Amino acid sequence: MLANKSKPITAIIVGAGHRSICYAKYSLKHPDELKIVGVADPNEYRRQQAMDLFGFGKDMCFESADDLAAKGKLADAIINGTMDLQHVPTAIPLLEVGYDMLLEKPIATSEAEVRQLYAVAQKCGNTVMICHVLRYAPFYSEIRKRIASGEVGDIISVMTEENVSYHHVATAFVRGKWNRLDTGSTMLMSKCCHDLDLITWMKSGIAPKAVSSFGSLMQFRLENAPEGSGERCLVDCKIEKDCPYSAKKNYIEQGIWGFYAWQSIEDQEQTEENWLKSLATDNPHGRCVWRCDNDVVDHQTVAVEFADGATASHNMIGGTSRPCRTIHLIGTKGEIYGVQEDGYFILRHPDARKGHEWSEKKIETNVSNDMHGGGDLLLVADFVRTLLGEPRSISCTCLEDSIYGHLIGFGADQARVERRVMDIVK
Ligand SMILES: NC(=O)c1ccc[n+]([C@@H]2O[C@H](COP(=O)([O-])OP(=O)(O)OC[C@H]3O[C@@H](n4cnc5c(N)ncnc54)[C@H](O)[C@@H]3O)[C@@H](O)[C@H]2O)c1
Repeated sequence: MLANKSKPITAIIVGAGHRSICYAKYSLKHPDELKIVGVADPNEYRRQQAMDLFGFGKDMCFESADDLAAKGKLADAIINGTMDLQHVPTAIPLLEVGYDMLLEKPIATSEAEVRQLYAVAQKCGNTVMICHVLRYAPFYSEIRKRIASGEVGDIISVMTEENVSYHHVATAFVRGKWNRLDTGSTMLMSKCCHDLDLITWMKSGIAPKAVSSFGSLMQFRLENAPEGSGERCLVDCKIEKDCPYSAKKNYIEQGIWGFYAWQSIEDQEQTEENWLKSLATDNPHGRCVWRCDNDVVDHQTVAVEFADGATASHNMIGGTSRPCRTIHLIGTKGEIYGVQEDGYFILRHPDARKGHEWSEKKIETNVSNDMHGGGDLLLVADFVRTLLGEPRSISCTCLEDSIYGHLIGFGADQARVERRVMDIVK
């Protein structure tokens, strides 16, 4: 059922972590469009934080998605920012009660779970939008518009790269909460299901047919630990001062990734003294990057074939110096090349006139470096518009549209492990 346009959409946060709160804060800037009216999270500190931030009462706080679902429908929508393994088990009871949902990526941790969720959403008629925020980043949405208007013709090849960076790979995939397969996702799915989604989006819904992939955990292994390194940067490491992975350098001096590095002490006062103490004792982010319990890859390459004969490749590389995403699209009439973080892309066409070889235009996209190039809040705005029955934007990432990218990812991981080419069947 469509929401009432004269009132804000009401939403309940399920999993009041870093991501949900980013999206929910849209309501603070646009109270006429979105109102956060409740929270479900087993973590008491996080429930309290959500109550303080959004101003609802204790009667709208629940300890789990199941407890919330048992109360029937109390709002229009759910913002589901639980961790990967909980996406489907928390989503299904809430969809069955009738909520629409903004659901974090990856949709699920297996192809079977994606299909299960899709079947429930189809049966119950809910709107489910997946947080593929990069579709909303002006860099990518502008490229998509150029493709839709035919400026480069039919796409023959898409090449994308995610250069994750030495500090990001260490924080999330070596020391952090996506470092093990038993947390639910491979590194490809947790980091690059966005990129695989972008590839299928750029191909305008043409079906991917087959995928192959290679990759491994090559760098962050005990046998590569440099001489002088220890168990913890701030306890027994003799090379901490020169190491780019130093926890002190990354999380205190560079001041990045605090929302992951300090999650285990988020209920304490945030002082340098407390940070140093936790890095030196039980904080997982204080561990040496060559001595962690990580088992996910640190780099992977994916090759895809589409039904029309086009091909795509994606390279995910963990330990790069600069974090950035690149894209190079080649069509029958022209090509597009760009680095998202540069804030522009180049549109190029063959030019066979004497003295020329090609012509090119620089397209500025005013990209911001935070919130996924500005995509996070544009996604929430589109979710609200969709629930109000207004026309969906070109970026709209509903559950059905997001399935191809996920099928490529699950297929790539199976192809990598089994060293074979996987057919993709929707
Ligand atoms: N869209 C993006 O670009 C992007 C970026 C980073 C992370 N993510 C994804 O966002 C998701 C959340 O990541 P995060 O770092 O915000 O996680 P988080 O750990 O900060 O938050 C997850 C919350 O879920 C709660 N929770 C656990 N079980 C629950 C249940 N049964 N019912 C309700 N709540 C429950 C936890 O207590 C926790 O507060 C992950 O799936 C991650 O892959 C997406």
